[in-house]
Amino acid sequence: MQLSPLQSRLAASFLASCLLIALYFTLFSPHFAIAQDVPGNSPIVLDDVDFSTLEPRSPLDPTYEPEFSVFDRGILGRAPAGVAALTNNEAMPMNAVPGSTQRFMFTVDTIPARAMSDVSLELREEHNGSERKSTAGEGGEESEEGLAPEADLDGLLKRQVARTVYISANTCEQPRPLAASNTTTEPPQLTLYVSNTDLNQSPGPVADADSQFQVNFTEGAVMFNLTVSGDVYIGIHAPNATGYTGQYNFRVAASTDGYFYTYNERDNADLIWVDSDAQGALLITHNLTESTDPAVEQKIMSTQPYVMFAHNSGDKSINGLKLSYCGLQNHAQIAATKNGQFTSMVSTGMTKRGQGNLPKQQFFFSGLNSSASYLGILARDGNSSASGNGLVGGGGHVFKATSFSTKSDHGNCGIVFNLTFCDQVAYSVPSNPNFGNSTQLAQFYDDYAKDMYENFNKSLQQVACDAPSNQRYSLARNCSQCAQAYKDWLCLVTIPRCEDFDNPAPFLHPRAMNQPFPNGETLDDAAWASVKQSGIASYNTSRNPRIDEFIVPGPYKEVLPCEDLCYNIVQSCPASLQFSCPLPGQVGFSSSYARRQGDELSCNYPGSAHFTSSAVRLAAAWAVPVVVTVLGLFLV
Ligand SMILES: *[C@@H]1O[C@H](CO)[C@@H](O)[C@H](O)[C@H]1NC(C)=O
Ligand SMILES: *[C@@H]1O[C@H](CO)[C@@H](O)[C@H](O)[C@H]1NC(C)=O
Ligand SMILES: *[C@@H]1O[C@H](CO)[C@@H](O)[C@H](O)[C@H]1NC(C)=O
Ligand SMILES: *[C@@H]1O[C@H](CO)[C@@H](O)[C@H](O)[C@H]1NC(C)=O
Ligand SMILES: *[C@@H]1O[C@H](CO)[C@@H](O)[C@H](O)[C@H]1NC(C)=O
Ligand SMILES: *[C@@H]1O[C@H](CO)[C@@H](O)[C@H](O)[C@H]1NC(C)=O
Ligand SMILES: *[C@@H]1O[C@H](CO)[C@@H](O)[C@H](O)[C@H]1NC(C)=O
Ligand SMILES: *[C@@H]1O[C@H](CO)[C@@H](O)[C@H](O)[C@H]1NC(C)=O
Ligand SMILES: *[C@@H]1O[C@H](CO)[C@@H](O)[C@H](O)[C@H]1NC(C)=O
Ligand SMILES: *[C@@H]1O[C@H](CO)[C@@H](O)[C@H](O)[C@H]1NC(C)=O
Ligand SMILES: *[C@@H]1O[C@H](CO)[C@@H](O)[C@H](O)[C@H]1NC(C)=O
Ligand SMILES: *[C@@H]1O[C@H](CO)[C@@H](O)[C@H](O)[C@H]1NC(C)=O
Repeated sequence: MQLSPLQSRLAASFLASCLLIALYFTLFSPHFAIAQDVPGNSPIVLDDVDFSTLEPRSPLDPTYEPEFSVFDRGILGRAPAGVAALTNNEAMPMNAVPGSTQRFMFTVDTIPARAMSDVSLELREEHNGSERKSTAGEGGEESEEGLAPEADLDGLLKRQVARTVYISANTCEQPRPLAASNTTTEPPQLTLYVSNTDLNQSPGPVADADSQFQVNFTEGAVMFNLTVSGDVYIGIHAPNATGYTGQYNFRVAASTDGYFYTYNERDNADLIWVDSDAQGALLITHNLTESTDPAVEQKIMSTQPYVMFAHNSGDKSINGLKLSYCGLQNHAQIAATKNGQFTSMVSTGMTKRGQGNLPKQQFFFSGLNSSASYLGILARDGNSSASGNGLVGGGGHVFKATSFSTKSDHGNCGIVFNLTFCDQVAYSVPSNPNFGNSTQLAQFYDDYAKDMYENFNKSLQQVACDAPSNQRYSLARNCSQCAQAYKDWLCLVTIPRCEDFDNPAPFLHPRAMNQPFPNGETLDDAAWASVKQSGIASYNTSRNPRIDEFIVPGPYKEVLPCEDLCYNIVQSCPASLQFSCPLPGQVGFSSSYARRQGDELSCNYPGSAHFTSSAVRLAAAWAVPVVVTVLGLFLV
């Protein structure tokens, strides 16, 4: 390939920059210069050094020795020219044009100061003892006894105990497709090559495959560890990218403490999609602790450990970068990070909603497109309280993506959450853009549920709740359990969970079909024909007449409450309250309750969400059928 004058100048200055960076790190890195950390500094003066005599070293020439004595290899850290020396827990940014390989070197003797005392101990021993273990096969550069102290150190460090080196990298930029329409493929991933033998100091696609490890990046990220006692040579190869233009940019870090960049590709995503409406979506993390210790809970509730990225699935610009923190920061459409894009579209906070009432972080996105699919990617910035160079794991952690989608532009389902009384409610409810904003909508439903609860609360006061256990209505349940069961049921029955009318799922119940949509449209004959088979009354109205009176949502489908919510009241509450539930097949059951099926969100329950299969926990508590003999309050 012919380089244009501009390109060749670019190449030349790029090479020069690499050389300078390499020199800078070899000379000034504080972790690097052994002389700095050892008491009684060596008296080397770096002035008057003619850098032009510093010839590039042939990486394959093991007999190479520095040309001038001041830069002994012990001082230079053995990093040949064109090879960047990595510092413990520091990410090095680098560009790579397709077809090239960038080289790095990590010397395990770049150990933190606290470990240096061990070395000094060993050093004294070294001067004491007479037996010097040979390090034959390391290029024949073993120093003779009685040489300068730095030569001794050089030999000593080679015989250090083996340590695990953690190498990790993130792709921040990748080539763009030449044809903007070329969205079917993504540019090839970078490849990491690692060698821990001095015989292969230039790992890469052309080096001997037996003397190196090869790991492909996955979605812009790579993690690799190995145990070494000497130097580690790293090559990052940018493959030829036919059909793409531009270069790669990545950050690589090596550490003896742990990975700087991490990712987790486990099947079970750590982010749970709770629900969405036409413009918004609510997502939540798993329990951030299993501990019920109030101090631990309080500490976690005062933090916001995670950040989140969201991206339209139809847009391919993050493909190939989905596990790279900097790639997502550069390319995700919405970033809920401290200085992310469109942070006004995201609000995040902590909540204890859901089973177990354990702390979780929730994210609410607004301003999304209707009927669109999105990818939500949870991440941690550094170790969540601090990030950046010098910190173990300072590069951040990226979790596997969760898919979610928004509802249609009918706009008659709206998300409510953060309710005061019905604190477990966080999902889409029948709504109408003309009714008011989500705060007013939440208030409307919450106030009604609270009013209804007052009536029940009065009835419960008539029951001998505080009687000794042998005089109570049940040995197994008490009044607070009855009150909780009733509240769970009441909130979910008075605040229906709304789905698009177009959603064909069989477990959904059509409602308010003879109302117009908020935009004035009405259902066509085909829509009517699809539901004509059963009793029409429950299809024309909402479950609660107040919804039709005040909100007038238009046709929607309801995710019916789970039947066990009703059974739980019958089991928990005194028989004198005479609650009873319709049983499957009985009048009212199919328009009031649904059964749990597999991992689908086939019925609504407190804290429900679009859990993935492994996260679903089926309640067994209601497996025993309840035989109701007294028909008192029929709970439909
Ligand atoms: C990559 O492209 C360069 C120049 O176009 C070519 O010399 C080289 O052989 C290619 N490498 C591979 C692996 O195809
Ligand atoms: C150093 O040598 C002296 C005398 O040979 C011996 O007593 C001492 O234990 C040695 N020190 C170490 C650390 O081996
Ligand atoms: C790495 O990627 C290359 C090219 O995409 C492929 O040929 C090779 O099989 C991959 N190696 C591994 C271990 O996945
Ligand atoms: C090191 O890598 C191996 C696989 O090469 C992996 O099984 C192991 O878990 C890694 N160790 C750490 C601490 O990540
Ligand atoms: C899209 O990219 C692929 C892979 O590089 C290439 O083979 C194809 O020709 C490209 N299509 C267009 C329209 O550029
Ligand atoms: C919801 O409540 C939590 C906890 O009180 C708060 O951090 C968060 O900002 C609230 N979200 C909205 C959108 O009001
Ligand atoms: C949180 O923990 C509770 C109690 O262990 C459990 O029932 C619930 O499923 C967990 N929630 C999530 C989202 O993992
Ligand atoms: C919404 O759709 C428009 C047009 O398709 C697109 O340009 C924009 O990026 C999308 N926005 C989001 C947040 O998905
Ligand atoms: C993160 O690192 C900082 C700086 O080392 C430290 O003060 C903080 O405690 C760490 N946080 C966590 C959660 O480990
Ligand atoms: C909703 O509307 C009320 C009354 O107009 C207003 O006070 C409140 O700030 C609005 N809330 C939001 C979230 O816009
Ligand atoms: C139920 O009534 C009792 C006694 O009047 C009262 O203390 C309690 O706060 C009420 N509960 C609710 C949720 O209103
Ligand atoms: C009711 O029973 C539950 C579980 O057995 C118990 O945690 C709770 O303290 C009891 N409440 C009262 C008021 O006795």
